Amino acid sequence: MKTKATELLGIEVPIFAFSHCRDVVIEVSRAGGCGVLGVAYHNAEQLREELNWIESHIEGKPYGIDILLPGKYQKLESHTITRADIPSLQRDYLRDYLDSGGIPRLPEEQHDELLDRALATIQMTPEQSRELVEIALEYNIKMVVNALGVPDREMVERLHARGIVVGAMVGKPEHAIRQREAGVDIVIAQGAEAGGHTGTLTSMILWPEVVDAVAPMPVLAAGGIGTGRQVAAALALGCDGVWCGSIWLTTTESELLPIVKQRLVEAKSEEAVQRRSRTGKPVRLLKSKLTEAFEQAGAPPILPMPLQTATMMESNLRVERAGAKDWVYSPVGQIVGQMKSETSCREVIYNLLDEFVDAKERMDGLVNS
Ligand SMILES: Cc1cc2nc3c(=O)[nH]c(=O)nc-3n(C[C@H](O)[C@H](O)[C@H](O)COP(=O)(O)O)c2cc1C
Repeated sequence: MKTKATELLGIEVPIFAFSHCRDVVIEVSRAGGCGVLGVAYHNAEQLREELNWIESHIEGKPYGIDILLPGKYQKLESHTITRADIPSLQRDYLRDYLDSGGIPRLPEEQHDELLDRALATIQMTPEQSRELVEIALEYNIKMVVNALGVPDREMVERLHARGIVVGAMVGKPEHAIRQREAGVDIVIAQGAEAGGHTGTLTSMILWPEVVDAVAPMPVLAAGGIGTGRQVAAALALGCDGVWCGSIWLTTTESELLPIVKQRLVEAKSEEAVQRRSRTGKPVRLLKSKLTEAFEQAGAPPILPMPLQTATMMESNLRVERAGAKDWVYSPVGQIVGQMKSETSCREVIYNLLDEFVDAKERMDGLVNS
């Protein structure tokens, strides 16, 4: 396939995979698409380890990283977040909420170590993300995508000087225009049905609005894509490729816990709800007892990013260790209702392409020649 996106990245098919799993990243790039590693939960040391591994397995194919550059966030005293930053009101509320649900506490002797290790992964301030970009520049990355904000000129210029494509997630046409003004090369228009941080405009409305707002800049469609028919719809609406996040969660290469994968394949579309409790900003995720903690009467206020993320860490650990099916969750989009079994990344890509060709032939057949 040939689109502005395949030309820009030097890839064979305009399919982009956002994932926190390195195996997904390399599999999608090796299959002709472009894997993009989400690094919001990778500190400097972990990022180096992941990029070393990726580069020794990706066979020279293009890949990227995705960072968070939030415009609004809580400034931290130190570079990383610590236990002392977590307010006791929210911490104690969550502790009691999980206690009353029968979720065992972390073993006392391991508590601090487990929590400190989890907190050290959080990379959600622009300062932390800039450090990750500096590390990524030591590697052969082809793309850096930012979410939740606008990159500064200096960062864009440094990336361009190295031939790196700069992308940005957007949820409104005005955001896309701002990103173009900042020097970004490609925007990812992400509709409200997507997994992760989302706005309110749905893909059907957002994609063509963004395409028109920034033409002839390339636009990728994100949010609600899990079949080739949806790929055809995205390309029909003027997009140059698709950017998927949810569908990789139930692949064999995904490192999600088996119990979470099982919950995902059983879930219906309407179980992917928007909640602020994971990070402090609206995130679409699979509803569970934990995601509802801050929806209860008498719940304390939700904190700003990255404090809310940090505050949830202990609960996430407790629920995962307990393997509690009604409590585990993951960010996921409404496409979850169509994710019915575990398959490989390669199979996902082949299915998307096969169905896309079928959809195109069907459309061709609708027009009298
Ligand atoms: C588990 C998960 C985590 C995500 N985290 C991020 C993130 O850190 N940064 C980002 O730009 N997008 C993130 N997203 C959104 C994806 O980049 C992508 O836009 C979205 O998944 C597309 O919609 P879909 O879920 O319907 O495929 C995440 C999505 C999922 C499913």
